[in-house]
Amino acid sequence: MKKRVHNFSAGPAILPEEVLAEIKEEFNGYQDIGSTIIEISHRDKTFLDIAENAESSVRRLLNLGDDYKVLFMQGGATLQFSLIPLNFAHKNARASYAEIGSWSSKAAKEASKVCDLEICHSSKENGFNNIEDLSDWVISNNSKFVHYCKNETIQGIRIPYDPNFQLPTFVDMSSCLFSEDIDVTKYDFIYACAQKNFGPSGITLIILRKTLLEKCDQSLPNILRYDMHAQENSMLNTPNTFAWYVAGKMFNWYEKNGGVKEMEKKSIEKSQILYDLIDLGEFYQNPVLKSQRSINNVVFTIKDSNLEQLFLDKAKKYDLHYLKGHRSVGGMRASIYNSMSKESVVALRDFMQDFEKQHG
Ligand SMILES: Cc1ncc(COP(=O)(O)O)c(C=O)c1O
Repeated sequence: MKKRVHNFSAGPAILPEEVLAEIKEEFNGYQDIGSTIIEISHRDKTFLDIAENAESSVRRLLNLGDDYKVLFMQGGATLQFSLIPLNFAHKNARASYAEIGSWSSKAAKEASKVCDLEICHSSKENGFNNIEDLSDWVISNNSKFVHYCKNETIQGIRIPYDPNFQLPTFVDMSSCLFSEDIDVTKYDFIYACAQKNFGPSGITLIILRKTLLEKCDQSLPNILRYDMHAQENSMLNTPNTFAWYVAGKMFNWYEKNGGVKEMEKKSIEKSQILYDLIDLGEFYQNPVLKSQRSINNVVFTIKDSNLEQLFLDKAKKYDLHYLKGHRSVGGMRASIYNSMSKESVVALRDFMQDFEKQHG
């Protein structure tokens, strides 16, 4: 493999070299089928085995009971912003959404087109830097479900504990699934796009309580109905077979490397390396409440914002790439998902230290 840079992209994000090498090897021909995996039918036994193994692996990794259905869908996490209210809050029923960063706010905005939207908590006023305890969110009795995002990729803030709501709980875990240890039984509907922690973009993992399938709006076209996707085992139409195949490889890699608990331990350790430096002085700043700081997306600014472009340009010379913060918030962001090595994080920390020495 050619020289690789330290890649801090927020998504699509880096994949482990072992996984990439395996894929490359299998593109010479998958097993003995005389084709690659992207050239055969999704209904062929070879692909059905891949799909089945991917699901079994997810079930083991997250300790899923039989009461949960696993779906692989297209349309990214963004499609879920619309499908969730369409299926579960139809006929203008009430649904409760928390606005705790850009992604959960986007989800709420989409839901407002479909249902009677209740904002049960908003941290917009404080710049999305501090989320109220879930037990203080104000939720109507007649609400169909509560929705939030567990890790806000753009603001670098997370809810570090599991919820305990009395109503169905729907959570976007796009940038933290498999790197935070969760008790799945506390959630009714979890979704995550693949391109951060389990492969290329183009596939979204959905884990939902089977009892929810009976509640889907049956007047919707089939392609928009979760119960139809479930009935067809995520093959209502042709899936993204390549992304599904890579996701399966990532799940295997997690199982071989200690599972979700180990990923969480490493994510805490890696993020702490950066937060320790940021908190050491005043040169770098992170505005997020310490106990809610993301362990996957470390955001920071430089006190003298005029230095930020120089920081990014210099970083690139040291092979530290894709550190620019999201275009909507600016600053810097280091995304350090599960495939990111501690060595790369240390390389960034060392660079930040040197940059501060030179310009602080
Ligand atoms: C938390 C979160 N939700 C949703 C999305 C949107 O995902 P997609 O582009 O797959 O629709 C992203 C993408 O970065 C995200 O980070």
